[in-house]
Amino acid sequence: MPHQSFESEILEVNQALLDAIAGGDWDAYSELCAADLTAFEAESRGQLVEGMEFHRFYFDLPAGQGPVNTTMTMPHVRQLGADAAVICYVRLTQRLGPGGDPVTGRFEETRIWHRIEGRWQHVHFHRSTAT
Ligand code: GLY
Repeated sequence: MPHQSFESEILEVNQALLDAIAGGDWDAYSELCAADLTAFEAESRGQLVEGMEFHRFYFDLPAGQGPVNTTMTMPHVRQLGADAAVICYVRLTQRLGPGGDPVTGRFEETRIWHRIEGRWQHVHFHRSTAT
């Protein structure tokens, strides 16, 4: 198997996380996250949330209909030593809106990854709704 660059490894694990979110796949999402994940996101209304229960609420809601496609645009990966990285990008999410027409959501995201015992764990993120 060819050697995978650090950057492509982070892009791959981050895309897997975004696909788990888009697919409402709690098992895949929680497998990729540290139990003490911290986050700022619009849903937390300016508060830092810690742990997985806050995020689980959204996975437990009824799934939306139709396909979802998630794209990281212009991702930037910065290696922070051998076992940590920060990635930032704008996330575009294509799905069907309430009227059945395609709509595109847009979010600014920064996510931190930490390799713990050989496994990449998502440890922090900050997601902003684009202004
Ligand atoms: N709201 C979950 C996440 O963006 O990771």
